[in-house]
Amino acid sequence: MLQIKNLHASVEGKEILKGINLEVKAGEVHAIMGPNGSGKSTLSSVIAGKEEFDVTEGQVILQGEDLEDVSPEERSHKGIFLSFQYPVEIPGVSVTNFMKTAINEGRKARGLEDMPAKDMLKLIREKSEMLEIDRKFLSRSLNQGFSGGEKKRNEIFQMAMLEPKLAILDETDSGLDIDALRIVANGVNKLKSKDNAVILITHYQRLLDYIVPDFVHVLHNGKIVKSGGKELALELEEKGYDWIKNEAVV
Ligand SMILES: Nc1ncnc2c1ncn2[C@@H]1O[C@H](COP(=O)(O)OP(=O)(O)OP(=O)(O)O)[C@@H](O)[C@H]1O
Ligand SMILES: [Mg+2]
Repeated sequence: MLQIKNLHASVEGKEILKGINLEVKAGEVHAIMGPNGSGKSTLSSVIAGKEEFDVTEGQVILQGEDLEDVSPEERSHKGIFLSFQYPVEIPGVSVTNFMKTAINEGRKARGLEDMPAKDMLKLIREKSEMLEIDRKFLSRSLNQGFSGGEKKRNEIFQMAMLEPKLAILDETDSGLDIDALRIVANGVNKLKSKDNAVILITHYQRLLDYIVPDFVHVLHNGKIVKSGGKELALELEEKGYDWIKNEAVV
């Protein structure tokens, strides 16, 4: 599904990612943990193709295709979904309209007609019920005045609607109350299949009780310094990052 080879990336001349290697296969869930500023959000932005980052070396390959010259829009049409650590507000565009546009853009890129209104409504109903999202919420302006937790839940709703091949969730759990965490995690679990993959960025082991990862990676200073199974998250919770920092040969 996704291969990252010796990826180096900089922003404003400062190198942030310093040689990342990662392979995510279809059907897998990978968790990425690591201290503040270690490059987790940068890695997700680079995978999504955000233009403020310069890839100076290495490759991001999605389903065998090198994404170097592929725009962020095309990447999303190819099935990459990135949830933001800090979602943007779009006044005047309702959640529903935003979703309709996103879905139909994706269809257009695949040479398909717009989704018939009836099917769209059915899809919206199905997915919002799955994530226990209040109907009233769907007619509000995207993210405007949404509480932190509502923004995060709304992002999972977008993911549920778009059914991406590769979903990257950047701290989707932060700011969620216990119920919302469970609902969001259940949503992700329901959407998981043998054909898609998830990268979860999180600071908390707690999320990984709900969404059990196949692999856990620790990012430190722009490199993956340790990888393991789900037990690595528990070990980190117990020992903190100093343990890794001291162990890591940088
Ligand atoms: N646009 C930018 N301009 C300058 N520096 C940046 C920019 N984006 C990221 N950085 C720097 O890159 C480093 C990595 O940032 P990043 O957001 O990837 O960290 P993170 O691992 O996601 O941290 P957190 O856990 O706090 O979310 C930080 O030192 C940050 O200041
Ligand atoms: Mg971050």
